[in-house]
Amino acid sequence: MKALLTRRHALTAIAVSTVSILTACKKADDTSKGGAGDAIKVGEFASLTGKEATFGQSSHKGTLLAIEELNAAGGVLGRKFELITEDTQSKQGESASVVRKLVSRDKVIAILGEVASGRSMEAAPICQNAKVPMISPSSTNPKVTEVGDFVFRVCFIDPFQGTVMALFAKNTLKAKNVAVLTDAAAPYSVGLATFFKEKFIADGGKISVEQKFSSGDKDFKAQLTAIKASNPEAIFAPCYYTEAGLITQQARQLGINLPIFGGDGWEAPELLTIGGKAMDGTFYSTHYSPEDKAEMVQTFVKKFKARWNNEVPDAMAALGYDSALVLADAIKRAGGTDGQKLRDALAATKDFVGITGKTTLDAKRNATKPAVIIEVRDGKFVYKETVNP
Ligand code: PHE
Repeated sequence: MKALLTRRHALTAIAVSTVSILTACKKADDTSKGGAGDAIKVGEFASLTGKEATFGQSSHKGTLLAIEELNAAGGVLGRKFELITEDTQSKQGESASVVRKLVSRDKVIAILGEVASGRSMEAAPICQNAKVPMISPSSTNPKVTEVGDFVFRVCFIDPFQGTVMALFAKNTLKAKNVAVLTDAAAPYSVGLATFFKEKFIADGGKISVEQKFSSGDKDFKAQLTAIKASNPEAIFAPCYYTEAGLITQQARQLGINLPIFGGDGWEAPELLTIGGKAMDGTFYSTHYSPEDKAEMVQTFVKKFKARWNNEVPDAMAALGYDSALVLADAIKRAGGTDGQKLRDALAATKDFVGITGKTTLDAKRNATKPAVIIEVRDGKFVYKETVNP
């Protein structure tokens, strides 16, 4: 956290929670004029602290790396980028207020974020009303981009992710009867559970029981006891990593030794620190693997490790990186940063090659990309397979 906040070059007076990275513009007053040569102000909102802190930190590190590389190469249209980052603290209500600040106080030309679907949904109407394009790197709930035509994402959506995991349960786990444990307070979780159930049932599977909890809960014994009584062959828990770790640990304590699996919300090193040994034999789907042999991916892994203290980039880092590059590409094609023109250029994004595959934005401003399945084995994340759309 500290390393992220120390690189702070203020152009104008900025709030304490703001991380402003400027490698470009030298004179503070340059930015207020809005003419050619001024820094392009891009806003970012991310959960840098709180319950999903690794989401925001990873995403931010990827985004910032891309911005620094773009600036080192001269920026776009002769202008460099200034990234202004706000912390959503993994809290409800915070996204709307920080994005409002980015739009009205900082006058950013576009917004990158958030990771969690619920927080993206909270901020999207503000961007839509202000006609400031917003790109979520990694929110997968379909409702995010349904907010309006200024809202985009560079990742796949949950009808696909739910299908991938339903097929995984059926074909790889050979399960016919699966229990579902949903975080009723997270739109991401509710959506992914729904899409999973639809596909699994359509393919002849059964849901033995569905149990619910609320983000932040710590005791899942009641739900797990009900799940155990329903005799499933596996448990699907589409939630975020903090709860996934606790759920799996408590399941093992109750003698439930079934495969437990989830979606991209499981992706964080903390999954292993929270869940410990209990995580062995669990699986989740995500957007990318650092083990991918593709040259572009390996170059990215190398650059990221060099920049961030030898840390291996996860999916959020890769998607954060891609989101900034997609934005820069659209600015280039738009010939400037006018909101409407930039929106139109973003909407026309086609076959843009990034770390997480090619980004082509469809009529609903969503991308179609392969999913990756990861297995936890001997306390490590192991790449299992890639599932193409
Ligand atoms: N897809 C999740 C959501 O929409 C966020 C996420 C993306 C988490 C990538 C981890 C990795 O809420």
